[in-house]
Amino acid sequence: MSFRLQPPAPARPNRCQLFGPGSNTKLFEKMAASAADVINIDLEDSVAPTDKDIARQNTIQAINEVDWGKKYLSVRINSLDSPFWYRDVVDLLEQAGDRLDQIMIPKVGCAGDIYAVDALVTAIEAAKGRQKRITFEVIIESAAGIAHVEEIAAASPRMQAMSLGAADFAASMGMSTTGIGGTQENYYMLHEGAKYWSDPWHWAQTAIVAACRTHGLLPVDGPFGDFSDDDGFRAQAYRSATLGMVGKWAIHPKQIALSNEIFTPSDKAVQEAREILQAMEDAKTRGEGATTYKGRLVDIASIKQAEVIVTQAEMIAAQ
Ligand code: COA
Ligand code: MG
Repeated sequence: MSFRLQPPAPARPNRCQLFGPGSNTKLFEKMAASAADVINIDLEDSVAPTDKDIARQNTIQAINEVDWGKKYLSVRINSLDSPFWYRDVVDLLEQAGDRLDQIMIPKVGCAGDIYAVDALVTAIEAAKGRQKRITFEVIIESAAGIAHVEEIAAASPRMQAMSLGAADFAASMGMSTTGIGGTQENYYMLHEGAKYWSDPWHWAQTAIVAACRTHGLLPVDGPFGDFSDDDGFRAQAYRSATLGMVGKWAIHPKQIALSNEIFTPSDKAVQEAREILQAMEDAKTRGEGATTYKGRLVDIASIKQAEVIVTQAEMIAAQ
């Protein structure tokens, strides 16, 4: 292993990020009362261009007035290719109080995008004497974003999380699909006449997970568009969790419980992880580095695998 240790990701639950448009004020109290760990008020693509100013003002008012409890509170600003983003940053940083935790920057393409927002945020924080430093999360949703994913992850100490945005990503890549995540009908292998579906999001997810784990960020799976399809959501979320992602977006409240369920280690998984740790502890007292657990090999790497599950469960339980 490199002598540089892998930095830990922020120790906060991020199982579900619930989105709602900044233009839809009647959702704010419902979002605050939900079971999502993270709230993302959106100023970007769920807000019509003519509503940008009012959505921004609604959002600032809601940050200051709604009781957000323990939620990690984030606002998705407009992308850097729009004429709206600088006003989002200036007004949020000047007018929203310290309850605001994070800014989400969409459609990032290179480290310079983060640098630009960081410079503006840093200047406003200093000018206004803001006590709490705003953190950043980004969406990887373009060819440039995935090509530069590692430099983006390393771009600022403010960086905490990275999501895959399947719809914009598919469009930017020229993928032949209109689905937002999940199984794509035409992405299959044939074996003896039978179709086996493959996962077109897999490589982008693993690239994001690797960049995040290298730089101590939380890797997150973005939206699953068909909110009537619980099984489809589950399948997508289980794949993401298996690959190392810590959570998923909810674009409708019915996706919150699904996400929390899948990204909370099950009692069975935690129990098994604890048993593996115990088996390795016993092996150590016998002077062994490897042993057998339920008929399979466990060794020192198994300790680290089991600790991922136990640590995640303990952090969620402590919340
Ligand atoms: N957060 C909290 N509550 C929400 C919600 C959200 N994002 N979306 C809907 N609800 C509430 C509704 O107000 C309704 O509440 P009620 O039972 O008290 O009347 C209930 O959940 C059921 O809503 P439903 O009628 O099924 O949906 P809808 O037609 O009101 O809204 C969407 C559907 C998709 C427009 C809406 O869920 C939405 O705006 N989602 C977020 C979109 C977004 O932010 N996109 C950007 C990221 S991709
Ligand atoms: Mg997008």
